[in-house]
Amino acid sequence: MLTHVLLFCFFYTFKKKSGQIESSFTTDVIRCKAAVAWEPNKPLVIEEIEVAPPQANEVRIKIVASSLCRSDLYLLREGKKDFNFPLVLGHEAAGIVESVGPGVTEFKQGDKVIPIFISQCRECRFCKSPKTNLCDNSVPVVRYEGMPEPDSRLTCKGKKLIQYMGTSTFSEYTVVNQNAVAKVDPAAPLDKVCLLGCGICTGYGAAVNTAKVEPGSTCAVFGLGAVGLAAVMGCKAAGAKRIIAVDTNPDKFDKAKEFGATEFVNPNDHDKPISQVLSDMTSGGVDYSLECIGNVGVMRSALESCVKGWGISVIVGFTNVHDLSTRPVQLLLGRTWTGSAFGGFKSKDGVQQMVKAYMDKKIKVDEFITHNLTLNEVNDAIELLKQGKR
Ligand SMILES: NC(=O)c1ccc[n+]([C@@H]2O[C@H](COP(=O)([O-])OP(=O)(O)OC[C@H]3O[C@@H](n4cnc5c(N)ncnc54)[C@H](O)[C@@H]3O)[C@@H](O)[C@H]2O)c1
Ligand SMILES: *[C@@H]1O[C@H](CO)[C@@H](O)[C@H](O)[C@H]1NC(C)=O
Ligand SMILES: [Zn+2]
Ligand SMILES: [Zn+2]
Repeated sequence: MLTHVLLFCFFYTFKKKSGQIESSFTTDVIRCKAAVAWEPNKPLVIEEIEVAPPQANEVRIKIVASSLCRSDLYLLREGKKDFNFPLVLGHEAAGIVESVGPGVTEFKQGDKVIPIFISQCRECRFCKSPKTNLCDNSVPVVRYEGMPEPDSRLTCKGKKLIQYMGTSTFSEYTVVNQNAVAKVDPAAPLDKVCLLGCGICTGYGAAVNTAKVEPGSTCAVFGLGAVGLAAVMGCKAAGAKRIIAVDTNPDKFDKAKEFGATEFVNPNDHDKPISQVLSDMTSGGVDYSLECIGNVGVMRSALESCVKGWGISVIVGFTNVHDLSTRPVQLLLGRTWTGSAFGGFKSKDGVQQMVKAYMDKKIKVDEFITHNLTLNEVNDAIELLKQGKR
């Protein structure tokens, strides 16, 4: 009864180039289908596009499956005025390397890969620090932007298509910098592990890497979309004793229970502020809270639901609202307010680690999938995610 994540599968036969030898670089332009966003607040249009060959350090990928993340809707819904259209959305996908550009040594044709919206160049100050995953050579994900026009390899009707978050996976083929691609186990089912390209790693990592949830602790997860459910799964994996799942849609509670939630709170059932409700339930507040919605009011509630002295609140939801507020005394009394992108996972390493965890049956992935649609049905998928129900 819920829409957590939607899945599109594209099925083709691999385009075999006769006489191609492995070390030569392709110069072919691929013509294929993609869902183009020509302007904000309008349905995507399936168009034939051209995908240029990969240039230095780039990888051209045949997308096999792509799922839909709430962040893809942000641009469409909010129609950010200064953002350049047309563009191709999609940043949660898996595919097969079709060709590589000069300088690419880590990938070859036929490799199974997951493109990622954060790079891991392994050379910048941020990659070298164990404290963060925010590689300096990423597309500016913090602003959820696209790559600069000259760097896009996609065109349609003579116009460059901006590659949203550097990936643009709502296309049969795309081109991504090798720093933003993870090679995965050849045995991994691509129509499942595509979900590890964003939402699952984001929520799971926010609990495990960012909050660093401790065994025996009490956690609250606000918002039970794919990201929140993955956060619940992360809290459970970290050994949390109580996991309080908070959502205004009670249809989400059954699913959250499957992922490890122990209690449920619907803010609409209470007259008191939700932070008070949680404080009463936990004699003073939770050890960890995670905001997986993207609502500044809820971010404040999540912080204020934490216990004084050591409570940690993690912002995971994305919003373009500028200001966030709380009373300074909340922090003075020892609460920590933090956040993470992509769950704090170093992108290539994290994806590989999570694919392995899935293959070893240590994390759930299949359970997140609610629909299986084709690229042609992308607008239906967007409607389903907006409605949050089947
Ligand atoms: N930090 C990152 O790297 C990162 C990555 C991916 C997604 N995100 C963001 O995470 C957020 C969640 O993504 P998703 O795909 O799971 O979204 P989703 O829309 O599927 O889930 C959101 C859930 O929140 C619930 N909700 C909405 N308002 C609420 C309220 N006031 N109180 C309680 N519950 C409420 C909804 O019923 C829904 O179940 C989005 O903001 C997305 O942009 C961030
Ligand atoms: C999605 O549908 C395709 C085509 O019917 C099928 O091959 C694939 O296994 C399905 N994947 C999932 C995860 O349901
Ligand atoms: Zn995402
Ligand atoms: Zn880097």
